[in-house]
Amino acid sequence: MKKLNIRDLDLKGKRVLVRVDFNVPQDKKTGAIKDDARIAGALPTIRHIIDCGGRAVLMSHLGRPDGQPNPQFTLKPVAERLSQLLGKPVAFAPDCVGDAVKAMALGLKDGEALLLENLRFHAEEEKNEPGFAGQLAELGELYVNDAFGTAHRAHASTEGVTRHFKRNAAGFLMEKEIDYLSRVLESPAKPFVAILGGAKVSDKIAVIENLIPKADAILIGGAMAYTFLLAQGKPVGASLVEQDKLDLARSLLAKSATIRFLLPVDHVAAEKKEGEPDKKGKPTFSFVNARQVTDIPAGLAGVDIGPRTIVEYARAVAGARTVVWNGPMGIFETPEYARGTFEVAKAVAASGATSIVGGGDSASAVQQSGVADRISHISTGGGASLEFLEGKALPGVAALTDS
Ligand code: 3PG
Repeated sequence: MKKLNIRDLDLKGKRVLVRVDFNVPQDKKTGAIKDDARIAGALPTIRHIIDCGGRAVLMSHLGRPDGQPNPQFTLKPVAERLSQLLGKPVAFAPDCVGDAVKAMALGLKDGEALLLENLRFHAEEEKNEPGFAGQLAELGELYVNDAFGTAHRAHASTEGVTRHFKRNAAGFLMEKEIDYLSRVLESPAKPFVAILGGAKVSDKIAVIENLIPKADAILIGGAMAYTFLLAQGKPVGASLVEQDKLDLARSLLAKSATIRFLLPVDHVAAEKKEGEPDKKGKPTFSFVNARQVTDIPAGLAGVDIGPRTIVEYARAVAGARTVVWNGPMGIFETPEYARGTFEVAKAVAASGATSIVGGGDSASAVQQSGVADRISHISTGGGASLEFLEGKALPGVAALTDS
């Protein structure tokens, strides 16, 4: 999949409207940025514009403010972090449209950058409202999309705006994401192993179906494994199970008969204890008195893959030349239940395969286990990378000019 690239544009003296994904995780209480990978990921594109004497007008969303201005979701701290990372000032606009903002954009000089306030302070952004897209388009003479993380959304800043430009180019981050992920779908070096984890089978159905004809092995972990195990008639105790997905799990197991479809052969299981309800009155749980088991007995819930499974999965990954991983193997936020996820991260890194890790949890697991620098590509897209692997066309990518 080849798209027009920013390096194909003549940027000198031009206002370049760039959609970035600065939707970064923040501390709920202090608002501090917890992970700036998405800001760092956009730096090559922003630096390129500055170095070429272009004028960068950057736009992003942050969180889900529901179409209303809300100081909790201001991008101001992001402008400050970007400025630190770039090593030069980044101006910040108090809104993303309107006369004052337009004046700021028109006032930019060559090599300067301006970040607009949160696009989602206007309901028209998510509605992909044409008039709003037109107002955004007035801010730039050229358009570049570097927001792979938001490419699965057909919003005004990712889709509508592109109708106002003759050519729409991918930034360097967008290019890298598309290159790695499309290689997986179009021509993966074999053996190709996919590792899928997380809580729900329902989140991964389309990915599993799309990867079965391409992969040599699919390794399943996380709570979704218990739905598959129950579908096979195995005991899962009090583990999280999607009862309404058992038939679907059976049909996926039948479809995967042509490849190695591995489920955990042992588990870390713990007692589920109900705690105080949270602020909204929802019940909370903790898992205590964990032990290793082959079959999960009544009263215990699976919280991680067990040691024999770790060995089996590491062996499957060791022979691979392409590995895709999305979703943790257990409740890895709790250190006692993180071993399976961290060992899988290490196995992926040690494999020497072209490795692509997607989804916030798996990305954080490779960071925490200290192997991030040995992963070929850590995607900045959660939902976007999953939809790409499902084989869906992403509106933000489809809107870019083919080259
Ligand atoms: C993400 O974090 O997945 C993207 O920034 C998109 O955010 P959204 O799910 O709120 O549209």
